[in-house]
Amino acid sequence: MENKRIGIYPGTYDPITKGHLHIIERASKLVDKLIIGVAENPGKNPLFSLSERLEMVQTDIDNMHEKYCPIEVVSFKNLLIDFARDHNAQAMFRGLRASSDFEYEFQMTGMNFQLAPDIETVFLMSSDKWQFVSSSFIKEISKLDGDVSGFVTPNVLNRLQAKQG
Ligand code: COA
Repeated sequence: MENKRIGIYPGTYDPITKGHLHIIERASKLVDKLIIGVAENPGKNPLFSLSERLEMVQTDIDNMHEKYCPIEVVSFKNLLIDFARDHNAQAMFRGLRASSDFEYEFQMTGMNFQLAPDIETVFLMSSDKWQFVSSSFIKEISKLDGDVSGFVTPNVLNRLQAKQG
């Protein structure tokens, strides 16, 4: 299809949360194809390997009820803007939670804009239900035997329990 709108939603997804899934559902309304870019991101020292994170994201997407466009899950190790270009994307989505996200996102958007002014970053405000969810807190709570079943799908919950058990 000509002029197909392609969007990227990049992240480390260590692990994917219900907050991410809500952004994915909403972003899928805005483009003709959505690519979930799972970053290798060794600098973040992820708990889950890249292949585990890819599998968790793919399973959660397969189980999603509300999808408004085709969604692909792809890993990347290079610069985000190069990954976006390789996939002919015009836009990159980011979820914005409390104001603490702003500084980091502002800086990243600014850098990416300098490198690739033709690719827009689109922010979707996280809904109030998911404002305080973060992958780091989920890992910490799970490690200390807390209940994180409200924040991740059963697929991810099983993986977390297997990892920390
Ligand atoms: N709901 C719930 N949680 C959310 C959320 C939402 N809507 N949106 C973000 N989060 C949380 C995540 O749980 C995660 O929490 P954590 O920091 O406690 O782990 C955090 O916000 C951000 O994680 P994630 O969404 O997975 O993205 P990220 O910030 O780790 O991703 C990349 C960063 C991949 C986009 C960035 O590192 C990148 O672009 N890498 C490629 C290299 C590159 O181009 N670098 C130059 C950039 S200028």
